[in-house]
Amino acid sequence: MNSAGVSQRWRRPAVAFLAAMFTVCLLPAAALGGSNDYFSFPPEPAPWSYGNVIINTMSPDAKPVTFSHWVHRIRYTCRVCHFELNFSFTKGGTGMTMEGIVEGKYCGVCHNGTAAFGPENCNRCHDGGKGPSKEEFDKLTRDFPKAGHGNHIDWTEAVRHRLIKPVHFLHDRPPRGFPTRNLVLQAEWSGVPPAIFPHTIHRFWLDCNNCHPDPFNIKKKGTPGSNMMAYLNGKFCGVCHGKVSFPLQDCRRCHVTMQ
Ligand code: HEC
Ligand code: HEC
Ligand code: HEC
Ligand code: HEC
Ligand code: HEC
Ligand code: HEC
Repeated sequence: MNSAGVSQRWRRPAVAFLAAMFTVCLLPAAALGGSNDYFSFPPEPAPWSYGNVIINTMSPDAKPVTFSHWVHRIRYTCRVCHFELNFSFTKGGTGMTMEGIVEGKYCGVCHNGTAAFGPENCNRCHDGGKGPSKEEFDKLTRDFPKAGHGNHIDWTEAVRHRLIKPVHFLHDRPPRGFPTRNLVLQAEWSGVPPAIFPHTIHRFWLDCNNCHPDPFNIKKKGTPGSNMMAYLNGKFCGVCHGKVSFPLQDCRRCHVTMQ
């Protein structure tokens, strides 16, 4: 898939979202309460496919590669790949090559036949976009706490109950002792209950540098343009929520007091 496909996928829900917002404006706030009826989202992929990145930027003679996030996040935090190893948050943005992988870069940092299967297993990565099966997903995640959307796994609870213990770093230990309080992000609309932002769970998975100074510049105080419409377009909270982390359909996980 190319990036044009991505923007198209988002265009339709964007229009639907505007329509939904229009409806929402005319309704009492209580009626908004947590209901998904006013929002129109793209069809959700199967839980075992949510977070799959199909990498196909290069060559017509290589089958597309599937990178499954759930397979990897069981074992590593986002920080390992998106900070230490510098993988991009944009599909295709890393500019990987097979030569690099064989030399021990990109996927090859781990897929070297020691930490994980080696580069000679062409078809395990070049699987044409299939990704891991439902059977494999069921086997590895059966006992995980459930959620309503995305992977249908409550990853926060899985961490809290120590069902997974992902590695936090390969070489570069994360800093200690920074903000742990929940931030309350007031919606600009009256009648909409605020969203919470818990630093603790985010810093468990991520590095400060994944969010500061971009997309959240704390020196500027507040983040102009941060709203639901932007999230649906993959900005701010929508960098992760809707692609890898639980999606925006799960209103109450952010707007905790929404009815
Ligand atoms: C084992 C490595 C690894 C881990 C762990 C990992 N990622 Fe990724 N992530 C990748 C790779 C590789 C890509 C694709 C990059 C590319 O195409 O250039 C990617 C892409 C993404 C994208 C873009 C997806 C899209 O469809 O546009 C997002 C968002 C993302 N990752 C978020 C996360 C979050 C959040 C976590 C932790 C919960 C995480 N990643 C954990 C390797 C990883
Ligand atoms: C930080 C280490 C790490 C990185 C980086 C990494 N992987 Fe993995 N990957 C693993 C481990 C560990 C496993 C599980 C052990 C195994 O299957 O050998 C795994 C499993 C897989 C699997 C098997 C999935 C299944 O069906 O169970 C595929 C396919 C895969 N990785 C593809 C990739 C691709 C493509 C990249 C680069 C875009 C990548 N990985 C980057 C560590 C990594
Ligand atoms: C660990 C996962 C993994 C394995 C194993 C793997 N590849 Fe790749 N391969 C990739 C990724 C990721 C890319 C970059 C894809 C892109 O950007 O479109 C790639 C790219 C390619 C390309 C495109 C041109 C280039 O040089 O980048 C070819 C051809 C290719 N691989 C062939 C192979 C062959 C043949 C094998 C087995 C000997 C193999 N790959 C094994 C992940 C893998
Ligand atoms: C997932 C993204 C994310 C990560 C990771 C993250 N932050 Fe934040 N941070 C935010 C958001 C969102 C805000 C609120 C911004 C606003 O008000 O516009 C914020 C606000 C802050 C503030 C100002 C408010 C306060 O609580 O004092 C500080 C300081 C801060 N972050 C430091 C850090 C540090 C240090 C780390 C790493 C340990 C970190 N952040 C990791 C997203 C993140
Ligand atoms: C860089 C990636 C990233 C960004 C940006 C991000 N998050 Fe998250 N968030 C995560 C990850 C990873 C988790 C762990 C749960 C998961 O992956 O489903 C998480 C968990 C949460 C939780 C915990 C709720 C629960 O029940 O588990 C809340 C609330 C949340 N995010 C709100 C926000 C808000 C609000 C923003 C924007 C201000 C935001 N996040 C931006 C990655 C991100
Ligand atoms: C990942 C966290 C997250 C999820 C999930 C989420 N929201 Fe929000 N929402 C926010 C944040 C943060 C704001 C505040 C934006 C700001 O700074 O004004 C917000 C603002 C809003 C607003 C005010 C208008 C706007 O665009 O800012 C409405 C209405 C709203 N949310 C409704 C919902 C509904 C309904 C759902 C479920 C379908 C939902 N939200 C899911 C984080 C979230």
